Amino acid sequence: MMATELTVVIPTYNERANIELLVERIDQCLGTIAWEAIFVDDDSPDGTADLVRSLCRRDPRIRCIQRLGRRGLASACIEGMASSSSPYLAVLDADLQHDETLLPAMLQSLQANEADLAIGSRYIAGGGTGNWDGTRRKISRLATTLGNIVLKQPVADPMSGFFMIRSDKFWRSAPDMSGRGFKILLDLIVSCPISLRIKELPYVFKPRLHGESKLDSTVVLEYLLLLLDKFVGRILPVRFLLFVMVGALGAIIHLTILGVFHIVHGKTFWVSQVTASLFAMVLNFALNNLMTYRDKRLRGSKLVTGFFIFVLACSIGAFTSAQVGDYFFVRNVPWWLSGLLGASIASVWNFAVSSQFVWRRRSKRKR
Ligand code: GDD
Ligand code: MN
Repeated sequence: MMATELTVVIPTYNERANIELLVERIDQCLGTIAWEAIFVDDDSPDGTADLVRSLCRRDPRIRCIQRLGRRGLASACIEGMASSSSPYLAVLDADLQHDETLLPAMLQSLQANEADLAIGSRYIAGGGTGNWDGTRRKISRLATTLGNIVLKQPVADPMSGFFMIRSDKFWRSAPDMSGRGFKILLDLIVSCPISLRIKELPYVFKPRLHGESKLDSTVVLEYLLLLLDKFVGRILPVRFLLFVMVGALGAIIHLTILGVFHIVHGKTFWVSQVTASLFAMVLNFALNNLMTYRDKRLRGSKLVTGFFIFVLACSIGAFTSAQVGDYFFVRNVPWWLSGLLGASIASVWNFAVSSQFVWRRRSKRKR
């Protein structure tokens, strides 16, 4: 068999109804090009991966990576690209919303060495967003504008999920990509240590025929966090910022409950304080599990053991905070500064223990 020239990476989550038609269309438009399609499926409940594998048995140009226990469009695309040995790598949605007929022209411009990266673009002449409603159009425009702040070179559609890149350039970016959220292209460009020659080709985003979009509010949150990470990530990890924000919210809740119990309901200080602490810890644990460590979210029995370790860690943190605060306070440092110093030490401690023992760190290889 001939070595492949082009790999088309197709991330899927519940796209069963779109697969066969998509493969047919790719085959049609790529003609004699030596291509392969790699589907990266996140264990879709609708059995997308089973269907893809049944196609693989008939056509060796098709491959399937079925990831277990993980979700994420960007990380799926990265893993698909990383599993390829072709000199050119494309990413294409499975739901037929992208215009696959652009693939040959993209490949040509890369082969002719006119560009390192070809983008299917909705925001240049000839492109468009089809029948999007006003809100989605506005959100997309805003995301595009924000995206351009972190880009060194202007890109008309940095939010596009449809592009093709030379594999050597992909490997320059890959080690620094965050792999989070939907914005794989922006991540790819921003993470590349050298500037990429970019060519944008227009296409009109088509309506979805089968299945539904997975772009929701978490995706928008992920995007904002990605931008934040690109700005301040090197100085202060965004995860730590989130942890501290959640902690600050917990402190407000704590004081509110303390006030309500002690002042309003006349409970003893001790009872009020313990109740408030419990509430704040449960809330903090839940928010951290949902947001700060959403990529390592605990479920089932792990959630229970995780909570107890978290409570234990935070209790030690609170004790340390009191000790440290007191150390400064008795040395005539103002009460609020003493408190803040104690709380800062406790935050770092709580964060370190939480990252290491509650939401376990996955090992990350350094290059
Ligand atoms: N493996 C995997 N894991 N695939 C996923 C996941 C996931 O968690 N979430 C979504 N996908 C797949 C879908 O099955 C589809 O093939 C593709 O990624 C795009 O997902 P959609 O849910 O259809 O996204 P969209 O149409 O709303 O968003 C598209 O347009 C955006 C720009 O407006 C995508 O192309 C985005 O990448 C793009 O930024
Ligand atoms: Mn879509």
